[in-house]
Amino acid sequence: MNKRKIVVTRKIPEQALERLKAHGEIYMWDYEELPMPYEILSEEIKDAAGLYTNVGDRIDKALLDQAPNLKAISTMAVGFDNINVKEAVRRGIAVGHTPGILTETTADLTFALLMAAARRVVEGSDYVRQGRWKSWGPMLLTGQDIYGATIGIIGMGRIGEGVARRAAGFNMNILYHNRNRRPEMEENLNASYCSLDELLTRSDFVVLLAPGSAETGYIMGEKQFKRMKRSAVFINSSRGTNVDETALFEALKSKEIWAAGLDVFEEEPVSTSHPLLTLPNVTVLPHIGSASVATRTKMALIAAENLIAGIENKELPFEVKI
Ligand code: DGY
Repeated sequence: MNKRKIVVTRKIPEQALERLKAHGEIYMWDYEELPMPYEILSEEIKDAAGLYTNVGDRIDKALLDQAPNLKAISTMAVGFDNINVKEAVRRGIAVGHTPGILTETTADLTFALLMAAARRVVEGSDYVRQGRWKSWGPMLLTGQDIYGATIGIIGMGRIGEGVARRAAGFNMNILYHNRNRRPEMEENLNASYCSLDELLTRSDFVVLLAPGSAETGYIMGEKQFKRMKRSAVFINSSRGTNVDETALFEALKSKEIWAAGLDVFEEEPVSTSHPLLTLPNVTVLPHIGSASVATRTKMALIAAENLIAGIENKELPFEVKI
């Protein structure tokens, strides 16, 4: 019997690859950092039963048109905004993702970014390395306090909740805005639900954790940045497509807001000539929210199990439901 073809769009951890090999013939794009070109993916997908993908691939209708035998798409991520899920489901293709596993790791990174942006950690490190440190200065590299400040979390899903738990440890006043109210968060962490407008005006830290979606458009644009305090720090570890980057640049440059910490960008990888990267009050990371060895290994394995179940017509351990 011919083995089913599985296309894997990046070099993945060995354990996950071994699991897949037991269930199909693997075509793997053997690079970890270099994205698989869309044209090559369009060719390889033609006779594939399974597609093992990630946030860096565009899985659109045109690609699915090339894949008459595809039974399952499995992304090594919780977010699936890069996949046309509606179109996949319409064709009977199961779509899997990795929710839950990366919650704490991503909350850690989000909080690290918040602290780094507030206390100018990267700027301070560069200052030392570049030999600019001449003496202790009373107001040298002064930042914003975190302990006891007000944090506003936009998108109170699993990761938002993880960030709120960390914020509670820093005695922060927690505000949140979400599709649905979370009474247990209000009870357990003393979090207060409020409108987006109120959250923006009251928060010292605005942390964006809403899922990305082509349909919702920008959550943060010119109007929203203008509502924030001049001393406020904006953090985004959700999706770059949630933010109007031109408006963010203007807000930071004109000191309408104090700083930003960004793990995600509208276009990734972000160009080194992007205006945001010219600002000292912007701390940037290359979309590494879930990047701990343990979490990425688990994500890779769960994505493998999703894919195997999908090509074998079984229920996926973690299926995207829309
Ligand atoms: C996700 O899982 O959606 C992250 O953005 C990548 O780890």
